[in-house]
Amino acid sequence: MIEKINNLLNQIENQKIEDLQELENFRIKYLSKKGLINQLFSEFKNVPASEKKETGQKINILKNKAQEIFDKEKNKLSETTGKKQDVDLTLPGDSFTSGSRHPVSIVINQMISIFRSMGFTVSYGPEIEDDWHVFSALNFPEEHPARDMQDTFFIEKNPDILLRTHTSSVQVREMEKHKPPFRIIMPGRVFRNEAVSARSHCIFHQIEGLYVDENVSFADLKQTLLYFAKEMFGEDTKIRLRPSFFPFTEPSAEMDVSCTCKGKGCNLCKYTGWLEVLGCGMVDPAVLESSNIDSKKYTGFAFGIGIERMALLKYNINDIRLFFENDVRFLKQFSSPL
Ligand code: PHE
Repeated sequence: MIEKINNLLNQIENQKIEDLQELENFRIKYLSKKGLINQLFSEFKNVPASEKKETGQKINILKNKAQEIFDKEKNKLSETTGKKQDVDLTLPGDSFTSGSRHPVSIVINQMISIFRSMGFTVSYGPEIEDDWHVFSALNFPEEHPARDMQDTFFIEKNPDILLRTHTSSVQVREMEKHKPPFRIIMPGRVFRNEAVSARSHCIFHQIEGLYVDENVSFADLKQTLLYFAKEMFGEDTKIRLRPSFFPFTEPSAEMDVSCTCKGKGCNLCKYTGWLEVLGCGMVDPAVLESSNIDSKKYTGFAFGIGIERMALLKYNINDIRLFFENDVRFLKQFSSPL
């Protein structure tokens, strides 16, 4: 028996294992249930008692050795076969898909840079507001329909806490903070309780503009907006101001820009040749006074531009909902250095 064990020990130490098949053969021959080593264990009961101790130890040594050889060869083989599979230099490399800026961000950034070039600074205000900053300080009468539940998302009633319906609230915050003169634009998200359709959404963005100084006139407002429109849509762009009404400006106007169809008429401008893009006007003296600015000394103009509107025009898109759906097939069409 001892001799048999020694022979097997010899055998396994000289066994050549060169591939996975040979490794498997080794396992079956020596280490499996019906393998040679297990057979030794069953023959063990016939060993005379005096030799049992020595024989038992020898079998264990043999078993451990066989297992050790098996593990070592297995590791070697998996290393080399692993490498063979990993490195295939003929495969094409993994491509990186780079992200792009959201079209609304591109347009905001472009507008900011145009107004910066005219000396405007940028400010931001909170999206959750109180009644004072959104309505009362802006001269909205108590029963004005814009305060109604149909237009405004209220968070709390009495005192009213709400989602701002326009960025004009930031005008009030800035007038409370600063002494004139100042020239500020205020971009941000606004909320209105409106049915979502191709033309309007319950969330959108505006850029508010405010310029307060001595002797600011309507001509300054008009020239500022004309310069902006030309920078945004091209040198031959025309603007037109139509009389309008806002509680916080007097006089008030809405501005149209000439459509890219150049008056020929198209779907976008509904065959009028003009597109409405913003509301504006001279800051109402009552609004200046409610923020403790002397309305005899100072005058100012303000405007509020719908950013999605600008993006629709710039990219010739016909559905505002696309901006909020985050469909990558839509979003990846836009790229900009800004
Ligand atoms: N806040 C107005 C709106 O949401 C736009 C506006 C801003 C009008 C500033 C005049 C001056 O429609």
